Amino acid sequence: MKKESKKIPTHVAIIMDGNGRWAKKRLLPRAMGHSAGAKNVEPICEAAWDLGVKYLTVYAFSTENWTRSDDEVNTLMKLLKQYLEGCKEKCLKNNMRVRIIGDISRLPQDLQDTIVSLEEYSKQFDGLQFQVALNYGGRDDIVRAVKKISDKVNAGELNCEDINEELISKSLDTADIPDPDLLIRTSGELRISNFMLWQMAYTEMYFTDVYWPDFDKNELEKALIYYADRDRRFGGRKNESQ
Ligand code: IPE
Ligand code: IPE
Ligand code: MG
Repeated sequence: MKKESKKIPTHVAIIMDGNGRWAKKRLLPRAMGHSAGAKNVEPICEAAWDLGVKYLTVYAFSTENWTRSDDEVNTLMKLLKQYLEGCKEKCLKNNMRVRIIGDISRLPQDLQDTIVSLEEYSKQFDGLQFQVALNYGGRDDIVRAVKKISDKVNAGELNCEDINEELISKSLDTADIPDPDLLIRTSGELRISNFMLWQMAYTEMYFTDVYWPDFDKNELEKALIYYADRDRRFGGRKNESQ
């Protein structure tokens, strides 16, 4: 039992993909797929915590997703706003802390205000540490980190020699969050699609054909079983702590 519990990933990241195809299969508009997908977030947060996961990060909207039709972008923004507005209640119910990763400065002001207030409110909760990646791109995260570091060098607060991997990690949106142990991507695509590029240097990957709205606790358990069977290695060395 003790050995088993060691194999639970501390941080699970999910690329929630396949809402559009889920809807298409049912002859429904894509918006219905997104709304079914949004409804699936809370049950998966609860399932993850039940199964022993401490950090969960979901990819909700990428820096590339702005290239979709105005109609679809508006639908997604509306759903995100609805979700985040109702999130304080979910945090209280589930003792969950929520943080947003990504460049929120491009989002509508009311959505930014909702985010600031939600993050402040949910700071008190020490259950599931839940991150929503919103207008997030792995490359953009690195670009913004490089700018933060450059500003410090320019201001004379930092020398170039002080730049190392730890400093870069601490300058990313995920500064206080451990790197993901397991990435799950739904809907059969075998890509990272610009998700946490730096942070996933040694993340185990699990791909499933299941579309995100159908991804339930049972599917999450399958991913965790896959992870438990992996023999984690770092540079050829077995990780003894696993
Ligand atoms: C994931 O579903 C949701 C977002 C990317 C916002 P998709 O909308 O990408 O669904 P598919 O890939 O077209 O099926
Ligand atoms: C990745 O899914 C982004 C999110 C799930 C938010 P996409 O459906 O946008 O990715 P690609 O375009 O298939 O790579
Ligand atoms: Mg997709």
